[in-house]
Amino acid sequence: MAHQVRAVVARGKGAPVSLETIVVPDPGPGEALVRVEACGVCHTDLHYREGGINDEFPFLLGHEAAGVVESVGEGVTDVAPGDFVILNWRAVCGQCRACLRGQPWYCFATHNAKQKMTLPDGTELSPALGIGAFAEKTLVAAGQCTKVDRAASAAAAGLLGCGVMAGIGAAINTGNVGRGDSVAVIGCGGVGAAAIAGSVLAGAAKVIAVDIDDRKLATAAKLGATHTVNSRHSDAVEAIRELTGGFGADVVIEAVGRPETYKQAFYARDLAGTVVLVGVPTPEMKLELPLLDVFGRGGALKSSWYGDCLPSRDFPMLIDLHLQGRLDLDAFVTETIALDEVEKAFERMHGGDVLRSVVVL
Ligand code: APR
Ligand code: ZN
Ligand code: ZN
Repeated sequence: MAHQVRAVVARGKGAPVSLETIVVPDPGPGEALVRVEACGVCHTDLHYREGGINDEFPFLLGHEAAGVVESVGEGVTDVAPGDFVILNWRAVCGQCRACLRGQPWYCFATHNAKQKMTLPDGTELSPALGIGAFAEKTLVAAGQCTKVDRAASAAAAGLLGCGVMAGIGAAINTGNVGRGDSVAVIGCGGVGAAAIAGSVLAGAAKVIAVDIDDRKLATAAKLGATHTVNSRHSDAVEAIRELTGGFGADVVIEAVGRPETYKQAFYARDLAGTVVLVGVPTPEMKLELPLLDVFGRGGALKSSWYGDCLPSRDFPMLIDLHLQGRLDLDAFVTETIALDEVEKAFERMHGGDVLRSVVVL
């Protein structure tokens, strides 16, 4: 039996999204049908709509989601109907070279549902990041569902499915922030703010938030940043050095994705420190650095893909910390909206008004 549900579809490059009826098949082998309860609006969704990812329109947008498993296909044992789950775009294969060498968070062959969701006329939809969760129901690979404690609100939990996990993971997984470290985070949108929360969780002694927008710095402080720097008015590198005894931070997390902010991160870290790039650049961007500085400053220059997270390990743990009051996921939910307000949320995101707008179904 197929399910007819309402969903947000991007039909063509740059065109506003529309609320449409789509057809979601019953789960086949290895798949799960999920009743979506909440889904955050992420830059990547807008990027799909603008044709910046690929041309495989129409897209079914939405990918930062939580919901309840409605049914599962043959052979699914890890999740069952009724489970409260966060959706992820890293259902690891267990067999690729990354998985086999014990680093499944780099899995190079992640799973999505095999069957396609369609428009009523049969046109196949391309789900954003293999999820597509601005929809009353969505079909995913069972491995894309991670069961977590039902006591968490869906709006907050769903955010772990993408941007917030990317930021927290940039700090705790990629940057390996430890007790007593000094950390600077450049760019404090949803991802950077999460990197701040992650650094605090990891025991960083000094957490410096850098942004050009005072509203973002205020949220950063609320999430535990010990210092804030508005880099529109002062030099980010100098300010970070000054706040770290003249040396620079042990770990600098770049959560903007631009060459100029990457350069700031590069020079704002202590000798032998770590730079983590979690902001996503665009194809035309180029970085120029004196190679001697790359050598002479030592340390590690790392990229963080989806916070180097392993959903099965990280999601339940972070939800537990959230429920214990140690990780304020609610702080990332600026507003909750209805399914037909995604286009408006894109505008607000563009204006820098929100950390996250979250569709609640
Ligand atoms: N210096 C400091 N901060 C900046 C600068 C700059 N030159 N330019 C922009 N910012 C700040 C913005 O003010 C904003 O607070 O960076 C933040 C970016 O946040 P969002 O636009 O909300 O984006 P976010 O969801 O946090 O994602 C950040 O990570 O996943 C990627 O594609 C995503 O590249 C994006 C980045
Ligand atoms: Zn996202
Ligand atoms: Zn793999």
